[in-house]
Amino acid sequence: MGVEVVVEGLTKSFGREVVWEDVTLTLPAGEISVLLGPSGTGKSVFLKTLVGLLRPDRGHIWIGGHDLANCRESTLYELRRLFGVLFQDGALFGSLSLYDNVAFPLREHTRKRESEIRRIVMEKMELVGLTGAEAKLPGEISGGMRKRAGLARALVLDPQIVLCDEPDSGLDPVRTAYLNQLIVDLNAETEATFLIVTHDINTARTVPDDIGLLFRRELVMFGPREMLLSSDEPVVRQFLNARRHGPIGMSEEKDVSELEAEARMGQDPGVLPPIPPQLMPTGDRVRRTQRAPGSWLSANGVTPPPGSFVDEHGRDWLSGPPRLAASHDEPGQAG
Ligand SMILES: Nc1ncnc2c1ncn2[C@@H]1O[C@H](COP(=O)(O)OP(=O)(O)OP(=O)(O)O)[C@@H](O)[C@H]1O
Ligand SMILES: [Mg+2]
Repeated sequence: MGVEVVVEGLTKSFGREVVWEDVTLTLPAGEISVLLGPSGTGKSVFLKTLVGLLRPDRGHIWIGGHDLANCRESTLYELRRLFGVLFQDGALFGSLSLYDNVAFPLREHTRKRESEIRRIVMEKMELVGLTGAEAKLPGEISGGMRKRAGLARALVLDPQIVLCDEPDSGLDPVRTAYLNQLIVDLNAETEATFLIVTHDINTARTVPDDIGLLFRRELVMFGPREMLLSSDEPVVRQFLNARRHGPIGMSEEKDVSELEAEARMGQDPGVLPPIPPQLMPTGDRVRRTQRAPGSWLSANGVTPPPGSFVDEHGRDWLSGPPRLAASHDEPGQAG
């Protein structure tokens, strides 16, 4: 089972420039969380801070009783081994084959024999659909393949916490759909705690258990998917529905006159779109952390927008989704 990550009052600046301030959130053990925010709001900086590559100015990152933000180098080294990270640019070594790239953490951090390393590397390559491409150099493959190779490398030490920085950027919609399914399946299989940064609204709406949104140097909201998808908070509402209407402008913040003009025009469609069902793992895999559809809404007395939880086959998931782990059926589930 993955581990919980508790972030408390985290603040990071570069010189006089504050990236974000007083960020507090909990990544629940074994759940998939997504972090959203306009470009430049510090999502990548947040991931790098979580894994200890950047030191925050203030605050705590609690993992299993240790504060990663304020610990000795030796403890930090141990804590880092819990993480698998897919960086925004993939960060593969250009002169190494995919095989050697994926084997790198095993050779660096373990004393496994080459035969054992080979078994693990081939297993992870198969997991991400790269069997047969082991000998290729990163420069010889497509962007999507590089992402998947980066993912294989992130998984090779069986991490309990997986951080992915825009795993889907630059991918076509079909590959993005496959990658999203892969993430859900991996989570079901490994039960690691996932945090994914994405700009893909469909990914954000269907993949995670929890969603967070960074804007104007703060974490606007972090919580269950259903909470954010049904939220009236203007920034959350605008971002999660990819609308022009709202506080976020082209250069991050709209000024007062822009907002007043917008209010006079009355462009906001007002109603929220339906909440889609969450992406399920394939085969007979079950995610132990998956909540029953509608459980947050009914527990909080919120009525979902019409048409919510109906999938593309017309099945209504509120009246009984397939294959939910019994232990996670929460009270208040309809049907
Ligand atoms: N090492 C660094 N030194 C100084 N400033 C930095 C450093 N890394 C990031 N920044 C600044 O921190 C801010 C946040 O950058 P970050 O890369 O985290 O944004 P982001 O939310 O990931 O954006 P995008 O969606 O475009 O990837 C930016 O203003 C960036 O210039
Ligand atoms: Mg980034």
